[in-house]
Amino acid sequence: MPASDPPVSGSLAPDPGPGVPERLIELRDVRKSFGNVFAVAGVNLHVDRGEVVGLLGDNGAGKSTLIKLIAGVHAPTSGDILVRGRAVRNWNAGRSREAGIETVFQDRALCVQQSIVRNIFMGRELAGPFGFLKVRRQVEEADRLMREIGFTSKVFSPQSIVGQLSGGERQGVAIARAIYNKADLIVLDEPTTALSLTETEKVFRFVRAVRDGGRSILFIGHNIHHVYDIADRFVVLDRGRVVLQVEKAKVASAELLISFMEGVAHPVAGELHPLAMGTAA
Ligand SMILES: Nc1ncnc2c1ncn2[C@@H]1O[C@H](COP(=O)(O)OP(=O)(O)OP(=O)(O)O)[C@@H](O)[C@H]1O
Ligand SMILES: [Mg+2]
Repeated sequence: MPASDPPVSGSLAPDPGPGVPERLIELRDVRKSFGNVFAVAGVNLHVDRGEVVGLLGDNGAGKSTLIKLIAGVHAPTSGDILVRGRAVRNWNAGRSREAGIETVFQDRALCVQQSIVRNIFMGRELAGPFGFLKVRRQVEEADRLMREIGFTSKVFSPQSIVGQLSGGERQGVAIARAIYNKADLIVLDEPTTALSLTETEKVFRFVRAVRDGGRSILFIGHNIHHVYDIADRFVVLDRGRVVLQVEKAKVASAELLISFMEGVAHPVAGELHPLAMGTAA
């Protein structure tokens, strides 16, 4: 593919107008099939600037496939992906990153034998004249990024080895790296699944700092309580389809979301869950 080929088609994105948040990404009727199985079967979804969207769904619902479509790991079988209002063409992992989307895939995120600073700059080191690495500037920048996301540990410096950090702090390093890579949308795949309550709280602190800085997070989780606590809006997938899209303000408790999900897994004929009334996509 030629380097000059623009990642997005069209010349002008529609201006959302004053007070309307920028639509960072939008999926329109996106499908992805493997053989004759539709893992994603016609999804409409968007993430606006400055929001945390929680993506929920049972095993096999299509969550990972959906985030791989957003990350450009898979191309859609059909449907459109729009970035900042413009349809993308030849979508792939490089273009997704160029568009300011970073995905933190669980476990594959970091080099644990390396320092925080090496992890943040990995592959994108700052180099001066003659190719010398600007080590001091990298350390300062790493320190600034860690503070920006609310990393307050007095024990660790940018030169600490990532293997010494707790699980929540490691997620923080991955998030800091995404911000260094100029991500506007950070996709977190089950970031709190293996973490204790204290560590989960740390991740939440990072996520809130990222959102308050005007970026967006797509948060994939199994633990509905975690997703309920952190997200501003929920999207529930079932067998490749969106069965609920709802603002947190309209969901009084995590239990309501849990009972909705139970109803999806074990539907009772003729019963309509309160959340499904008027809010289902
Ligand atoms: N590369 C692939 N080839 C064939 N089938 C696949 C592939 N990736 C996913 N699938 C199928 O697509 C469906 C959705 O899978 P996906 O991994 O997206 O679900 P998930 O919601 O992430 O589940 P989990 O919660 O278990 O991670 C499943 O039936 C799965 O077997
Ligand atoms: Mg998955």
